[in-house]
Amino acid sequence: MRLFFCSILFCAAATVSVQIRAWDDGTTPFVVSPDAVVERMLYLAQPKAGDRLVDLGSGDGRIVIEAAKRFGAKGLGVDIDPRLVNLARVNAKRAGVESLATFEVQDLFETDLRGVSVVTMYLLPEVNLQLVPRLTAQLKPGARIVSHDYDLGAWPFDEMIELALAEKMVGPLGRSRVFLWVVPSDARGRWISEIQELGGRWQFDVTQKYQVLDVDARVGNSAGGANMVVRGARLRGEEIRLAITGVVEGKGYNTLFAGKLADGRIEGNIRISDGENTKTIPWKATRQP
Ligand SMILES: C[S@@+](CC[C@H](N)C(=O)[O-])C[C@H]1O[C@@H](n2cnc3c(N)ncnc32)[C@H](O)[C@@H]1O
Repeated sequence: MRLFFCSILFCAAATVSVQIRAWDDGTTPFVVSPDAVVERMLYLAQPKAGDRLVDLGSGDGRIVIEAAKRFGAKGLGVDIDPRLVNLARVNAKRAGVESLATFEVQDLFETDLRGVSVVTMYLLPEVNLQLVPRLTAQLKPGARIVSHDYDLGAWPFDEMIELALAEKMVGPLGRSRVFLWVVPSDARGRWISEIQELGGRWQFDVTQKYQVLDVDARVGNSAGGANMVVRGARLRGEEIRLAITGVVEGKGYNTLFAGKLADGRIEGNIRISDGENTKTIPWKATRQP
């Protein structure tokens, strides 16, 4: 019965408001993500065999089932409504993926996200915001979070797809947005590299808010050193990239530092161009205690 009233409520909502309306207790009601949205969600999340996917508020199970069918990903859908969990189980069986796609009756605020590599959700904006502390505390760097229509407030997204959908009658009418966040490593602090081919000692001072980095780079010792210009910085999970230009020992360089940042170390390579020649050399950096 509740599902029936839910559909009516959403159709009515389409004519008077673009907001999904919560139930009186603040719970997100059941509305499906259209197939084209599920496709974009999975495109951004890139699930693969070996991933553990969780759909928070799984409804009829379509996201978890599709991830299992198309990518062989193991997934869990949790929903507060037992009838939807039963429906999702039936749908998974019908799709032949019941060993990969499982469903539990559970409050999404109690779902254990440790070890989960992909989180998907189509929830109310205020529920998304309440989930942020849990997502940042429990997910590991590199985990992907994908949300239909609503963002995570102050946490800037890494990617967003917007698509027109005639059938979309709740939230933003006639269109959907799909957001991706990749949980970032902790890159804060002072990092030191020894790069003999490029002035010797490099020092990177990094401040960070979510995945957004502010980096100061300096090359050479404190007496004869030079500040470099950091033109771009990107942190995506454990992958860090810095585009840096400047003059080292009288010669101008363009460089691209790229590496994997984990456990206080960065390992990767540096592409160096002096305008005539380009070469790639290894890059190692360690965080100062
Ligand atoms: C908008 S629907 C999304 C369904 C599905 N994820 C999709 O995108 O098609 C939100 C779902 O969240 C469930 N839900 C709402 N509050 C919940 C809670 N506290 N814990 C678990 N599920 C919840 C609802 O029952 C509903 O099925």
